[in-house]
Amino acid sequence: MLVTGALLSAGGADRDLRGDGAGTQALGDPAPLDPTVEAATPEAQGIPLRQADLDDDEPDRASDGDESAAFCSPSVDEAIASGDPEALVVAAGGGSAFREGVVAGRASDCISLSHPAWDWVVVNKQRPIDPIDFVPELVAPATYSPIGAHLDPSAAESLDAMTSAALDAGAGEIGLESGYRSYDTQVDAYGSQVDLRGTEGADLTSARPGYSEHQLGLAADLVACDGTACGTMYEFGETPQGQWIADNAWRHGWIVRYEAHTTATTGYEAEPWHLRYVGVELATAYHEGGYETYEEFWGLPAAPGY
Ligand code: DAL
Ligand code: ZN
Repeated sequence: MLVTGALLSAGGADRDLRGDGAGTQALGDPAPLDPTVEAATPEAQGIPLRQADLDDDEPDRASDGDESAAFCSPSVDEAIASGDPEALVVAAGGGSAFREGVVAGRASDCISLSHPAWDWVVVNKQRPIDPIDFVPELVAPATYSPIGAHLDPSAAESLDAMTSAALDAGAGEIGLESGYRSYDTQVDAYGSQVDLRGTEGADLTSARPGYSEHQLGLAADLVACDGTACGTMYEFGETPQGQWIADNAWRHGWIVRYEAHTTATTGYEAEPWHLRYVGVELATAYHEGGYETYEEFWGLPAAPGY
């Protein structure tokens, strides 16, 4: 996301996957964004743009003052002021250098993994969104969404590029089952899972309110579509689209957030449909480093439970 004044631009996007109008007609019109949703600039929500001004509870890491000064250079400070996360990572030397700086504690004077309005934010069962009622800037992607889901603007643009690339590669059509979910929507989503599976089962598949990446506008649940209908997200991993996403999402700035066999770290069962936008620089570093969880990528403790 660009961390600037936040706008809500709802509806109006063309969700026709095939570019011939058939997808939109066959699959129905998207719902408009809930008009009660209000977004404001991070500052207006009480979140300083400068990340070091956050009163967060980042774990202490070994930090060397001189090295920290080298990471938080004038060009990094300038990029922070610009609000452009991709430019900031590039200014820090690229995705791997940025990650290494954060993990080593050299970035703590200027970068926080708790700031909800920057693409690298980490939200898990040990790291609720702060502030808990954060609302991101949101737009409607062009990618077809049965419910008219919205995303952070950079995430939406990258999703559209990714779904177009999948189509061009012959992998098939991809739809957006769910994107941004407000705190209140997550109350309902989590409550439905508790009703279905009980608390223990729900906690393996749904985040509790205030703990979902969907509230950041940076998470997308994907489904495979065929121009007339879409499958369920539970089927996605077994489809050609799901396989293409597993192999290529990183090229567009996305990671598969909950991979198989990572429940001990994430606290969730595998969700091959749940993509998290982190930007191309960081997704490339994640892919090239062979990481399977975002926690390991940032050197953070496992977060299997609340
Ligand atoms: N399904 C994921 C964990 C969420 O609810 O955010
Ligand atoms: Zn999801």
